[in-house]
Amino acid sequence: MKQLVQKLYSCGELSQEEVVHLLHNLGPESRDELFRYAHMKRIERYGDKVFMRGLIEFSSFCRQNCLYCGLRASNVAAERYRLQPVQILDCCQEGYDLGFRTFVLQSGEDYWYTETILVDLVRSVKVRFPDTALTLSIGERDEETYQSLYEAGADRFLLRHETASRNLYKKLHPTMSFDNRRKCLATLQRIGYQVGAGFMVGLPGQTVADLAEDLLYLRALNPDMIGIGPFIPHDDTPLRDESAGSLEDTLVMVALARLFVPDALIPATTALGSLDVMGRERALKVGANVVMPNLSPVTVRKKYALYNNKICTGEESAECRHCLELRIRAAGFFVDMGRGDSLKSVTVK
Ligand code: 5AD
Ligand code: SF4
Ligand code: FES
Repeated sequence: MKQLVQKLYSCGELSQEEVVHLLHNLGPESRDELFRYAHMKRIERYGDKVFMRGLIEFSSFCRQNCLYCGLRASNVAAERYRLQPVQILDCCQEGYDLGFRTFVLQSGEDYWYTETILVDLVRSVKVRFPDTALTLSIGERDEETYQSLYEAGADRFLLRHETASRNLYKKLHPTMSFDNRRKCLATLQRIGYQVGAGFMVGLPGQTVADLAEDLLYLRALNPDMIGIGPFIPHDDTPLRDESAGSLEDTLVMVALARLFVPDALIPATTALGSLDVMGRERALKVGANVVMPNLSPVTVRKKYALYNNKICTGEESAECRHCLELRIRAAGFFVDMGRGDSLKSVTVK
């Protein structure tokens, strides 16, 4: 196994069969070897900095019905909220004063925010905070909307591919299309966004071959950002009785993603931190180099419930930024509050 890990480290490439073989046979020793190589690659490319993104979850309404997600349209128990554009701008202001220079505006697929409303919002953010990078994570829209949002000043777009297995995708997304998801990602890249893809680990029915597909898909897509988190069940969804993905499996995928797409920005996700108190710190040591503290108003945080026991939602999390900063330092890294563009986007420019 060590040879495979070394091969991946030096040439960034493995076949589907090799990845499957590696995942099936990864013992504690070769896993530690993988973690070490992933960490080395991250230090080579990005050093020991951790980039901070201010996350604003601005609407918990969603028209989709993903089986795993607490915000799915059929979940009548979900408490819904919508922040008005002025409230979103207030969150950005608060974040800006705390030193953030990247904001991630995230929501369910909520078409209350029309193209016009979103374009105005993006323009207002960029006029008021011209030295920031703006990331959207609002799901699927048509090409024209993606284009006008880019022209209005949005720099980046997160749209996880969720799983690279067509079959599994179909089962988990009754209201969505696998092909359209991929088409959206291609469109976003063509328009010029820095694009983030990513997937969940430990989804019910997910195989090692599916996970190998995720990595090969990412390698081919070559995104600027890669979000990887464990699946965690939510009590008000059809997958309530399924078990969560494991910490170790998710860390292995984070490490492999670092080696498959060395220049990517990879967040230590909130889902990892929710699964294990030290989940995010561990991810930072195996290739992850971004964290996304929550800047949403504390009053709505609990309502953005994608899965059970989500962290950073209680009263104590008002100062999420400081909490995370301390954690990053304690893990031996340095906080970088800059825009934190991906190496890929910097080389292309
Ligand atoms: N467990 C883990 N991650 C989830 N997401 C949605 N529901 C869950 C869940 N139950 C992830 C999806 C989505 C991102 C915003 O949150 O991957 O893209
Ligand atoms: Fe909506 Fe996203 Fe949840 Fe799917 S994962 S139901 S698109 S918020
Ligand atoms: Fe969010 Fe600690 S990291 S409250």
